[in-house]
Amino acid sequence: MTSAVTISLNVNGERIEADVPPRLNLSDFLRDHLKLTGTHVGCEHGVCGACTVRVNGEIVRGCLMLAVQCDGAKVETIEGLSDSGEVADLQAALQS
Ligand code: FES
Repeated sequence: MTSAVTISLNVNGERIEADVPPRLNLSDFLRDHLKLTGTHVGCEHGVCGACTVRVNGEIVRGCLMLAVQCDGAKVETIEGLSDSGEVADLQAALQS
């Protein structure tokens, strides 16, 4: 069995430190470890985009990235965008 790896990252403005399995993907880390279930999992092959998040400002597919690759990174999920008001216009349009 492979040992866990300690990672430290910033998620939606909050500093997070966690011990994760080396092969845990980012979307499962966000959903299962941090309970950020706005990041969804669909195809798990990088096709559908349900797992899309931003890492250091770049749009990535969370299902194709390992959590350990985010050590030291800034990660933003839909929860973070919602809290910041960045998608407020889109949310309002969907509610009308
Ligand atoms: Fe479909 Fe990641 S789950 S692109």
